Amino acid sequence: MPLVAANWKMNPTNIDDALDLVRGVMSVARGHADRVEVAIFPPFPWLLAVSDLLVETGVKLGAQDAFWENSGAFTGEVSPAMLKGWCQWVIIGHSERRLYVGETDEMVAKKTAAVLSRELGAIMCVGELLDHYDEGRSDEIVTGQVRAGLAECSADDSARLVIAYEPVWAIGSGRNADPEHAYKTMRLIRRIVGEMIGAGAARKVRILYGGSVKAANVQQYVELPLCDGVLVGGASLDAEEFAQIVRVTAEVYGHR
Ligand code: 13P
Repeated sequence: MPLVAANWKMNPTNIDDALDLVRGVMSVARGHADRVEVAIFPPFPWLLAVSDLLVETGVKLGAQDAFWENSGAFTGEVSPAMLKGWCQWVIIGHSERRLYVGETDEMVAKKTAAVLSRELGAIMCVGELLDHYDEGRSDEIVTGQVRAGLAECSADDSARLVIAYEPVWAIGSGRNADPEHAYKTMRLIRRIVGEMIGAGAARKVRILYGGSVKAANVQQYVELPLCDGVLVGGASLDAEEFAQIVRVTAEVYGHR
């Protein structure tokens, strides 16, 4: 089943707006729950209240990060054990964490393994910078990130593992990637997953595209043969826009 994931990032800044946003997408998401898995990733402080609203809707909840240890002296961190119970998913290694808080491939590998070991789903993000893209180095960068990020994963994890290809130059820029480039990179990612954890696993792992996805351009990605959905940032903060992304995805997969 395709996955449409709403990464709210550090938005909205108050709980009432967060709950309004959830209410705005809930009925559409629920109405398509048999064809599209919808997951919402609010900031940590809103998780509990949002989880109450999502009970029995079929809409999944996720966190935007988690630490690799389950408890201990790690000020400010949140562990997979703490998220288990109300979250089903965790985003790991988003480019904004790599850029702004110095997250490394090694940290991404540890976090991904920790999340999967708690039987949560992990959305591991990879993607090249604009300079890499301009220099024709996208494949090399993405290959390195996928290899390093999966270093501690096994085939047993594949059903709960998602890899999101998010070219950094496409995030928040309005410059979404050409579908041909997205397709080639997703094909490369699936090949590397096969090399790392086996061909069976490579078929099960879901691969998403992210980067300036909107209702008006989502169809060209979800139509790609190797694309299992989208990771949406800015457009997920507008309930109607996000609902339309869910509708288009349901429509496309309904015809597959
Ligand atoms: P935008 O959809 O705002 O480009 O963000 C994409 C993203 O980073 C999702 O994780």
